[in-house]
Amino acid sequence: MAMIIDGKAIAEQIRDEVQRDVAALQASKGITPGLSLLLVGDDPASQVYVRNKAKMCEQVGIRSEIVRRPATTSEAEVLEQVRAWNADPTVHGILVQLPLPKHINEHRVIEAIAPSKDVDGFHPENAGRLMIGLPGFVPCTPAGIIELIARTGVDTNGAHAVVVGRSNIVGKPIANLLAQKRPHGNATVTMCHTGTRDLASFTRQADILIAAVGVAHIITGDHVRDGVVVIDVGMNRIMLPDGTTKLTGDVDFASVEPKARAITPVPRGVGPMTIAMLLKNTVLGASGELYS
Ligand code: GUN
Repeated sequence: MAMIIDGKAIAEQIRDEVQRDVAALQASKGITPGLSLLLVGDDPASQVYVRNKAKMCEQVGIRSEIVRRPATTSEAEVLEQVRAWNADPTVHGILVQLPLPKHINEHRVIEAIAPSKDVDGFHPENAGRLMIGLPGFVPCTPAGIIELIARTGVDTNGAHAVVVGRSNIVGKPIANLLAQKRPHGNATVTMCHTGTRDLASFTRQADILIAAVGVAHIITGDHVRDGVVVIDVGMNRIMLPDGTTKLTGDVDFASVEPKARAITPVPRGVGPMTIAMLLKNTVLGASGELYS
């Protein structure tokens, strides 16, 4: 029987800590952390995410502001909004919800965000800092995975971590974090992706398996060995025979869980951690300590 890693409970614990940090920052420096969110277009999933992010800010005492713009908004208008927030000292974190409409160049928008306010950790400066081990904003989902690993006592030191997925948001940063020579790192990391031949031959070697592919149930019991720790980053909406939909992971929980030492469920695993780490990053930005 695997230990089920309770991401919901750990995220609540982090939010409590953030709430205390917000109060301490107000008491010591008179600063109220502020997060500004930009949502362009009407993607239903993005609307839910942005609303939840703002709601969680309110819960811990972070001031938040959502600016909603139609899908027809030009790139220049988006850049103008970002620059206005860059110049506003009451804004400590800037989040432009992705994906953006096709006519807007995502890279140009991300690069326009001041690195010191880039709480998503997507700016090339923060990506570069992560790569060479300098302080900087770490993307929220990989940062949340490290917290899950740390707070459940999983030993990464010398372990073989196999990452399936190479996205800029999850795969690349988590592979970097796990390889770093520091606590909750120092793992031997293998990165697999859609070009990998014989995926199972790699995943079967994993002490720690991170599935961040975006394909429902691609990892089955045949892909893992006994005693593996499994972190499932998948958030796939699948249709059930009765016509309803449900959220499910990249891991086939039913066949993997019996072999695993520990495993994250979907939902209530990695998902809740992402927003908790966004709040943590926003307070870090407001503290001014990251780039001092
Ligand atoms: N879209 C999906 N995940 C994310 C995220 O972590 N940040 C932003 N800005 N957009 C997203």
